[in-house]
Amino acid sequence: MHRVDGLTKGLAVPPGSTTDLDELVGVAHVTDSRHFSLPLMIAFDGALTSNVQVMRQYCASAGVELAPHAKTSMARGIVERQLAAGAWGMTAATVHQVAGLVSFGVRRILLANELVDAGAIDWIARHVLAAGTEFSCYVDSLDGVRILDTALAAAPGEPTLDVMVEIGFPDGRTGARSAATVLEIARAAGDSAHLRVVGVAGFEGLFPGFGTGSVPYGVAEFLGAIRDAAEAIAAEGLFAPEHPAVVSAGGSSYVDEVINHLHPSRFSFPVTTVVRSGCYVTHDHGVYERSSPLDGRASDGSARLTPALELLASVLSRPEPDLVIVGCGRRDAPTDDQLPRVVGRLRGSVPESLPGSAKSFAINDQHLFVRVDPAVDLRAGDVLRLGISHPCGAFDRWRLVPVVDADYRLTGYLEPALS
Ligand SMILES: Cc1ncc(COP(=O)(O)O)c(C=O)c1O
Repeated sequence: MHRVDGLTKGLAVPPGSTTDLDELVGVAHVTDSRHFSLPLMIAFDGALTSNVQVMRQYCASAGVELAPHAKTSMARGIVERQLAAGAWGMTAATVHQVAGLVSFGVRRILLANELVDAGAIDWIARHVLAAGTEFSCYVDSLDGVRILDTALAAAPGEPTLDVMVEIGFPDGRTGARSAATVLEIARAAGDSAHLRVVGVAGFEGLFPGFGTGSVPYGVAEFLGAIRDAAEAIAAEGLFAPEHPAVVSAGGSSYVDEVINHLHPSRFSFPVTTVVRSGCYVTHDHGVYERSSPLDGRASDGSARLTPALELLASVLSRPEPDLVIVGCGRRDAPTDDQLPRVVGRLRGSVPESLPGSAKSFAINDQHLFVRVDPAVDLRAGDVLRLGISHPCGAFDRWRLVPVVDADYRLTGYLEPALS
């Protein structure tokens, strides 16, 4: 039994009463206004299943491991699918996300970020390390090494923490900028009684030019710098000897480049290459459609990802022949890459494409402006299907995301945790 109350966005339950979602699974269509209300973000079961399998197969055949970035959805239902498909572990960006993953029962967590808050380090020591969860985080400065060392020395049992030296690039985000700094950090961490250097990491997904249909200039060089850093650390014997060193990079856009440049066969010592793609799992109708090696940059005939998220919203008004106002806005869909894209409409529970053009061009908090071909038959009350870009911002806006089959019948639901 899973009771949700009438204030849950997307449900049509009257305020003050509750509904049992489990009773609706397999029975209710999300188009049934007795149970659901628009706008509504939904996820297609078939697309989620297929995307998880496509990525599993892609990584397995390339000989790399996958620690999907959980920040995309922070939804137990997605994390469970990824782990069931053999994910090496899960990636987090914040301690709050680590806490979420621990509550989902994840046993290996990579915090792809620096830990510089003594309280957070203490929390990790008590609730993650002490519980036997395999955990590593980034460090990119001598200050970072000192902070970790001091906080761990004060934590109960003085635990040892696994760290990965993060490598960055000029004008980029975190990450040491030079080979000399990387070595200094690795040496300092190696000297600490509380730290073990288990690998190196970086993130190529934010290079200027990100999100187009080609790989940005500089990505290959950056990945080469990560490889060189790993070789230099290995040459000094600074990696913990118990396991192959972990070399980790890779979002969803240029994971093919990561595999190419950081494959274990590229190293002179034993390496486990771990990619951290997250958005592949829902894919999208925008930035990832353009940039993914499993979509916009795919070669003909190769396996493809499928957009799994769709925002359903009503036409509220057609005040001018070529203008349609739709009942969804910034509160319902991300806009950092592009506005929600009209992909079709629903007739009952049957998806149709629109016979003519319809293009979103402006958005308010709760309204979307769509320019339409005057000949298109669209009127108040019609339901539009909208594609989103990109997924993290979509999950941020919904506490309940119904999962549906191709007939828009409920097969389950996702409950994204606050990110
Ligand atoms: C450090 C890091 N690793 C991995 C990812 C996952 O990349 P994507 O969202 O393209 O799947 C991100 C996303 O921002 C990230 O910041």
